[in-house]
Amino acid sequence: MFPPQMASVFIRWLTEPDDAVYDPFSGRGTVALEAVLQGRQGFGADANPLAHALTRAKVKIPAASAVDERLNELEAEFACSALLSTSSVPEDIRMLYSPATLRQINFLREKLNGRGYVDPFITALALGMLHANHSSGGATRGFSISMPNTFAMAPGYVRKYIRDHELEAPDVDVFEMLRTRAAQYDLPEKAIIGGRSWLGDAAKPAPEDLKAIRPKLVFTSPPYLQVIKYGKYNWVRLWFLGHEARKVDQRLMASGSLARYLAFMKKVLEGIKSTLDTGGYVCLVIGDVRRGEEQLNLAEHVWEKVAKPAGWHHHGTIVDALPTGGKVSRIWKENPGRATKTDRLLLLSPWPGVSLPTFPNIDWDLTPKLQKIAATGGAV
Ligand SMILES: C[S@@+](CC[C@H](N)C(=O)[O-])C[C@H]1O[C@@H](n2cnc3c(N)ncnc32)[C@H](O)[C@@H]1O
Repeated sequence: MFPPQMASVFIRWLTEPDDAVYDPFSGRGTVALEAVLQGRQGFGADANPLAHALTRAKVKIPAASAVDERLNELEAEFACSALLSTSSVPEDIRMLYSPATLRQINFLREKLNGRGYVDPFITALALGMLHANHSSGGATRGFSISMPNTFAMAPGYVRKYIRDHELEAPDVDVFEMLRTRAAQYDLPEKAIIGGRSWLGDAAKPAPEDLKAIRPKLVFTSPPYLQVIKYGKYNWVRLWFLGHEARKVDQRLMASGSLARYLAFMKKVLEGIKSTLDTGGYVCLVIGDVRRGEEQLNLAEHVWEKVAKPAGWHHHGTIVDALPTGGKVSRIWKENPGRATKTDRLLLLSPWPGVSLPTFPNIDWDLTPKLQKIAATGGAV
């Protein structure tokens, strides 16, 4: 994950309003959202259905009133629905919620559909609250027993934790919590349809309509060398979406072999080149990976062994040391050698002769915003 400000700066520097920005490894949809917020078109693809669901909600943002209406409609239907049985819900999921809460969650899981943009937006809201820790004041921020809201620990671990700590799942009103969360987002009066998200493998040929769009900028962070199992640590959210974590992980790039990783990146760069505007730019954010005692500069390998031999132009590399005390890196504390510490941003063009525009005047004083983020635990 990289901070949204990072994508925002490059989008403002390297594209004009209405230009298309594309992220083939869209994750939570940070790049696509920043593009939309900057008046560009945001396109995102990912091979993980969870990433697709999160990105979709960031490029097609419904009006506040439409979300409210749909939640009211769903709640009314829930009140007189016969679809209340939760007997098909797996035991691993059942242990996380109170019976009343689970009935609401399971109803939404079956009722929310992928059509239009209001249901996908509510789906993304629900995904963000399926598991969450309790605030220090005791109020619950999510639907489940107290769990980290970033990654879900393995079912066996959670089961033991619940038993050892005698945790009781809270009885929460899911509809009310979704309404409150939606209100916090300050949604627009009219829907913003700012781009598109799809489920796609970045190593396969790019879809034809993307070639017609011709993005001006690809800003992306490819997976590293087997650092994170995105499916495994999102098994609760994937259940909500109707997917099996194990099968999702099988579709994602996860190899400890540098040769295989570079072969993958070769295909990815070929796909990007086939769609990019001829005057376009590619930003690849790639972290260093620790291999035993060795620190592997993966970005340099991608440049030297993949992009350079294919005739790409290297504008420069920006090095950023990530704060290791952050929320996500703390989660990986049992495995410190594998967390990323140094990120490198490779700024490339697939063809020579493309020059960089003048760097814009940017207000670097983001401190008040960062302080606000720290104070609210990232909820702004
Ligand atoms: C480093 S993360 C991107 C994080 C993103 N920038 C964010 O801020 O959330 C890498 C992403 O690549 C996706 N991925 C892995 N293999 C893929 C493949 N073959 N094609 C497309 N996406 C893939 C993963 O699901 C994950 O979302």
